[in-house]
Amino acid sequence: MTNTTEPSPRTRFVYDEWIESVGVPIHTGFYISDLRTIELGWWEERGCQTGFVQLEGQEGVSETRITEIPPGETLPSYSIGLDEVVYVLKGNGATLVEDGDGHSDSFEWNTRSMFLVPAHANRRFRNLSGESVRLIHYTYLPLALSVVTDPDFFLKNPYRPAGDNGSDKPTAFGDAANIAGGEGYRWINGQRGKGVAYWYGRFYPDMSAWDRLDSNSERGAGSKTVRIQFAGTDMSAHMSVFAPQTYKKGHRHGPGRAILIPKGEGYSLMWKEGEEKVVVRWQEGSMFVPPNRWFHQHFNVGLEPARYLAIHPPIQLNGYTEKVVNANDQVEYVNEDPSIRAMFEEDLAQRNLTSLMPDEAYTDPSFSWS
Ligand SMILES: [Fe+2]
Repeated sequence: MTNTTEPSPRTRFVYDEWIESVGVPIHTGFYISDLRTIELGWWEERGCQTGFVQLEGQEGVSETRITEIPPGETLPSYSIGLDEVVYVLKGNGATLVEDGDGHSDSFEWNTRSMFLVPAHANRRFRNLSGESVRLIHYTYLPLALSVVTDPDFFLKNPYRPAGDNGSDKPTAFGDAANIAGGEGYRWINGQRGKGVAYWYGRFYPDMSAWDRLDSNSERGAGSKTVRIQFAGTDMSAHMSVFAPQTYKKGHRHGPGRAILIPKGEGYSLMWKEGEEKVVVRWQEGSMFVPPNRWFHQHFNVGLEPARYLAIHPPIQLNGYTEKVVNANDQVEYVNEDPSIRAMFEEDLAQRNLTSLMPDEAYTDPSFSWS
């Protein structure tokens, strides 16, 4: 894949060259309005309709790929040498996971389920419904290909882990469990989070219904969060839920964080410091990725709580990206550009709604959401 005899310095990621070689649509830009309807193309090797989504903010860190399964069909089994998070954009089906060591497990999923398939396990996706299924897969393949530049090393690797790793076995697909008192990468009051609660497991049945959430008040808007640690891997995610007719504080961090919308209606602003803002309108099925060190801010203009699911980059990047409660990386309401509030109120007015942001939030630096 990589031409190591090239006379000039490389300016592209091996991953970008590889997805071009697959020959299916590659969707770029800042956001996708609806992953459930974007154009796909036939990928002979995987025997399915596929599309790659490589947005500005993914920056050679994360891969996102769409798979479609026709009604009643089962796709050919495949294995990759990387852990893979799968979110169900639409449809009902099942996954059969085999680890090559005599262990197998199958589990059923629905629209808005999320699960992790561990590296090197064979996986077979099946549509159990009368309508087409769409999945989105998230991996660190772009980063991996910057370390080992041959895609076949990850996509056609016959290696299978040996031995019984307990909960790390791919047979562990029961619903995720709540763990209290963990130590997280989230920074709270200037230090790495201690005593945080998080969800641990490989299967999350319905991200739109999850209601066991913790307060995340430092980000404003009565925000609540569920932290997710996938079992047997470094991979993690979080989901935030925030109140109707409110908005969260602007903040910034590193690249590679794929944001999916399980439920709600709103928009986000994304901007490089001092530059024009990009407006991302979202609803269920949307995806966007804030580029490295770009500020971004989320606005709920609907009548219901909105939720977004953020699948994280590797913890080497996630660690520093969460130091956002410090000055310069989070914009308090009292310091924000007044046009942000004006745009929000105007957007709501067009829907015959009004902002539920308390006035004190804009005047009192110590204002705290009750
Ligand atoms: Fe963020």
